[in-house]
Amino acid sequence: MSVPESQYLSPVWRDGLFKGRVVFVTGGAGTICSMQTRALVRLGANACIVGRSEGKTEDAAKEIAKVRPGAKVIGIGGCDVRKMESLQAAADRCARELGGIDFVIAGAAGNFIVSLDGMSPNAFKSVMDIDVLGTFNTIKATIPHLLKSSSPRIIYVSATFHYTGMPMQAHVSAAKAAIDSLMASVALEYGPRGVQSNVIAPGAIENTEGAARLLNSDEDVQKAYAASIPSGRLGTVRDVADATVFLFCEAGTYINGQVIPVDGAAWRRQGASTMGGDKSMEYPNYLLSTEPPKGVKDTRKNKL
Ligand code: HXC
Repeated sequence: MSVPESQYLSPVWRDGLFKGRVVFVTGGAGTICSMQTRALVRLGANACIVGRSEGKTEDAAKEIAKVRPGAKVIGIGGCDVRKMESLQAAADRCARELGGIDFVIAGAAGNFIVSLDGMSPNAFKSVMDIDVLGTFNTIKATIPHLLKSSSPRIIYVSATFHYTGMPMQAHVSAAKAAIDSLMASVALEYGPRGVQSNVIAPGAIENTEGAARLLNSDEDVQKAYAASIPSGRLGTVRDVADATVFLFCEAGTYINGQVIPVDGAAWRRQGASTMGGDKSMEYPNYLLSTEPPKGVKDTRKNKL
């Protein structure tokens, strides 16, 4: 699907900003990461995106390549960040075919809405494995290549839930807190060798899988939620892509070891008060009820 440039990039960046750079992206077919990649490719980078789904990842790579004549974008499906061997093979192939790896976006993530009561040990482990082990594996697989770059940079796509704690997101909150911590370790251990390591923490970003799962689908409820955000609206994929461009370009060089929320200050108001912005789901009623939260998508294959 062709996406107008205005939807993923502000008109303030210089053409060719990332000429000759290569970005490696996990979860690169997802809505947010594919737009981050589009922005970088439009500004001159080549890219390798990896994901679990074969068709989706390869199709996304072909679409992204259309944003700039001559762009090279490799899509590697069947690559699960939980499996080091497949990730290592993908990173090595990226470096071999595109000439190296300068930038990494660790974006692969798992999420579903469930209380601690309803969460099995395997459900918790699934998200920890995708998010935390997957991020660790991404670092291990790409760092040998990054250390050969003149401008090695990593962005981890995290979240803001763990700043306040968030009901129904214990697994994701624990995982994202660990990702923020890994980011800091990379800045400390590899910063002296030139690596820049930062987290981007998106808030609710409109038209994404995350927002579809976490927010009530009712339009009025969504409007009320948007109005409760200090910046008065949900985020856009362009907000996240612009922040990515800034961190990867020369202007962002001295920002290292930081967590950068791109959320319109939403996290400063978030917490346990309502679920998905639905006023009828006041805390703690939705935890005491046997009904699942209204309007949120249940992704379980086998319902309880
Ligand atoms: C309770 C659930 C569940 C649900 C799955 N499980 N969905 N439990 N409620 N809705 C449980 C299963 O029952 C199982 O436990 C365990 O989790 C593993 O499920 P599988 O389907 O076997 O796992 P797997 O195939 O590895 O899939 C992982 C997944 C899936 C995370 C469950 O949703 C997935 O692949 N997600 C990737 C895409 C994704 O989630 N993207 C969203 C990113 S958005 P048992 O005990 O039965 O074995 C995002 C937004 C962040 O991260 C914040 C934005 C603001």
